[in-house]
Amino acid sequence: MKILVVADYESMSNAAAQIVQGQIARDPRSVLGLATGSTPLGVYKTLAEYHRQGLDFAELTTFNLDEYVGLAADHPQSYRHYMQENFFSKVNIRPENTHIPNGAAQDLQAECLRYEQLMAEAGGIDLQLLGIGSNGHIGFNEPGTAFGSQTQVVDLTESTIQDNARFFATPQDVPTQALSMGIKSIMQAKAIVLMASGANKADAVHAALRGPVTPHVPASVLQLHPFVTFVVDQAAAGRL
Ligand code: GLP
Repeated sequence: MKILVVADYESMSNAAAQIVQGQIARDPRSVLGLATGSTPLGVYKTLAEYHRQGLDFAELTTFNLDEYVGLAADHPQSYRHYMQENFFSKVNIRPENTHIPNGAAQDLQAECLRYEQLMAEAGGIDLQLLGIGSNGHIGFNEPGTAFGSQTQVVDLTESTIQDNARFFATPQDVPTQALSMGIKSIMQAKAIVLMASGANKADAVHAALRGPVTPHVPASVLQLHPFVTFVVDQAAAGRL
């Protein structure tokens, strides 16, 4: 486990983007696991800048962690839309190489199985990017999620629904369920980078790194992974 404490959001974004760039340089056919939320926006911006300077994404494959249940791909708050706007449209990645669970699938269980199978067929994830929820969740694996879980339908907790409410017009519009890679799916990645910025993440970062390894703090499972880097800014590292 490596812990990189950097000054601010911009340094966090640059450090994480450099790790991704290194991965693509080592293997242009890498499989990346991607995250959404406000935390990785700077990484995607920096990677788009690297692309303008020549970094090639043509051979890359990506799998996103999660998607809201009930939002179509073109819904402005869907994670597919987020990825399209903030990253995929800015680099030369092939659309058919980008994977996100389909939250609008008729049969959600079948969609979860399909997603796990696709990841396995791609040879697994080489490098997984993660943010962290203020309650310590990763992906949408809320406190209490079994460490053995794979991609599944999850009920969002009240605190996550409230955290997400800022993106939706009314509280009724905020999805209450999501499809998310499970803890086991995430832990199967060969390497993981977790990013955190801001004082509202300090408790979660502290619990993940210094607390016991417990399903009550999903991110604490990362203490068991052999190749994890936490990139946290000073505010998020405030309780370490
Ligand atoms: C959502 C996402 C997570 C993300 C978290 C934190 O719950 N499913 O992947 O890490 O939000 O979001 P933010 O980065 O906006 O704080």
